[in-house]
Amino acid sequence: MSGIGILGVGHCVPKKVLTNHDLEKMVDTTDEWILTRTGIKERRIAGKHEKNSDLATGAAREALKQANLNAHDVELIIVATISPDSNFPSVACLVQKALGAKKAAAFDIGAACSGFLYAMTTAKQFLQSGMYQNALVIASEKITSLIDWNDRSTCVLFGDGAGACVLGPVRGKRGIISEFMHAQGNFGDLMAVVFEDGEPLSQQNKTIAKPFVVMQGQELFKIAVNSMAAAVEQAIKKAKLKLEDIDLVVPHQANDRIISAVAKKLKVPKEKIFVNIDRYGNMSAASIAVALYEAVVQGRIKKGDNVALVTFGAGLVSAANIIKW
Ligand code: UT7
Repeated sequence: MSGIGILGVGHCVPKKVLTNHDLEKMVDTTDEWILTRTGIKERRIAGKHEKNSDLATGAAREALKQANLNAHDVELIIVATISPDSNFPSVACLVQKALGAKKAAAFDIGAACSGFLYAMTTAKQFLQSGMYQNALVIASEKITSLIDWNDRSTCVLFGDGAGACVLGPVRGKRGIISEFMHAQGNFGDLMAVVFEDGEPLSQQNKTIAKPFVVMQGQELFKIAVNSMAAAVEQAIKKAKLKLEDIDLVVPHQANDRIISAVAKKLKVPKEKIFVNIDRYGNMSAASIAVALYEAVVQGRIKKGDNVALVTFGAGLVSAANIIKW
């Protein structure tokens, strides 16, 4: 039986760049604070009329082109997002319409920053079971629509964007060779979307206020480091590999200090870790999808490489996949 692997990747980010210097004019912050505490220099911001589904569709088109797959032949579309255009229709259905992928089943997955790996693992099960022959997996966020632009502790961290991949059968011992997913719902209140009165999203207060992200950064930081390191170890063990066998680690890009701490904990040299947070900030589910895209197009991933993808996010949820490229 052949494996399930990535046949093409794509990305789409808004044109508008918001730099740390721009943020200095908006809240009480400095380029120096943001850069040293997070590694972020700038991020992309979707315009008022630029929807999550537009970014998702852009990323999907590029991935389909790379995979040489016609939209009419797509059988499954899964979009990982926590910032959809609206509660329904799903972003996946909006993408289906935009692409004209009439044959496909389509749905969204909400697993915050781990959404892309949760979606990839879900799609893999459908392909492995033989139910579908291919899947379009997209991670897309307009997360800045959920940001309180007066809160310096969160507004400097996030950006918008989308990444995508096409999954399908691959020959030989290639493809997604192991996966790990975990959740710690008991820590859910460390990062959440709330209203001004601190109440979570509900029908009653929906009309009077805009929801926004709140987070307890320091607590999340510690759990992020431990969870991401543990997720990589679990996935590597399942793949029957050793850490030394991994050629590149592509982690979720929440904070460059988190990435460095994970590298240190795993004893992986930083050269083996892909980082692009400086240009995009934290794009939630889309971060790892765009990082994977850039790692591929920059030639950081070559045929035969063992690649570890690892994520952590609100929920709290963590995940890791090992892919033999
Ligand atoms: O996507 C997955 C989920 N997210 C994460 O995993 C994020 C994890 N956490 C983090 O990345 C970091 O905790 C942050 C980047 C969010 C914050 O960094 P920190 O080093 O933990 O800073 P802090 O929250 O402890 O704040 C240190 C100081 C505080 O001032 P005092 O109390 O020491 O006077 C903050 O008020 O920095 C202040 N501060 C700022 N100063 C300038 C907080 N935000 C800013 C800011 N500019 N933007």
